Amino acid sequence: MSLSIIVAVAENGTIGDQNSLLWHIKEDMQFFRRTTTGHPVIMGRKTYDSMGRALPNRTNIVVSRQEIALEGCQVAHSLEEALTLVSAEEECFIIGGAQIYEQALPLADRIYLTVVERPYEGDTRFPEWDRTAWRLVACERHEQGESYPYPFRFERYERA
Ligand SMILES: NC(=O)c1ccc[n+]([C@@H]2O[C@H](COP(=O)([O-])OP(=O)(O)OC[C@H]3O[C@@H](n4cnc5c(N)ncnc54)[C@H](OP(=O)(O)O)[C@@H]3O)[C@@H](O)[C@H]2O)c1
Repeated sequence: MSLSIIVAVAENGTIGDQNSLLWHIKEDMQFFRRTTTGHPVIMGRKTYDSMGRALPNRTNIVVSRQEIALEGCQVAHSLEEALTLVSAEEECFIIGGAQIYEQALPLADRIYLTVVERPYEGDTRFPEWDRTAWRLVACERHEQGESYPYPFRFERYERA
């Protein structure tokens, strides 16, 4: 199995506020859907709550310490347990939030990073990560989106 992180981060590190996203960038939503569809996705229970439903056409695995059942999802009680539910040949995506990114960073092989080139105020941040341990292998910048007026870029990193 290869483990990939996919995340959209504001210039100042913010990824969310009050359990929701801070921007709506159609191109980023499309990138997320295109990249993760057909692959297993692992998320924290709060991120699941913020979406309110399982993502279609993907195996959804939610990490929680609680004994809960969530429609359309498998529930694991640790990240390690979540990873045992994924078969060996698959690219598996960690889709957040901050708690799960933090635990997955030491294990990840790849990071799909959307950089939103503006600061946003919010209560949730992507953890600090050691960029020297990673190699930037792709970057695509957009001056603006179809309905988002500011620049953003799609970066991909592989563990060096
Ligand atoms: N910008 C982006 O790309 C992006 C992506 C995803 C999410 N977000 C944002 O991030 C925020 C949510 O992030 P968050 O850090 O607050 O929450 P989170 O990581 O989504 O979920 C945290 C929950 O996961 C469970 N958990 C965490 N570690 C665990 C472990 N080791 N074993 C078992 N369960 C564990 C716990 O669930 P229980 O409480 O049920 O035990 C914990 O409360 C939201 O604002 C969301 O919009 C942004």
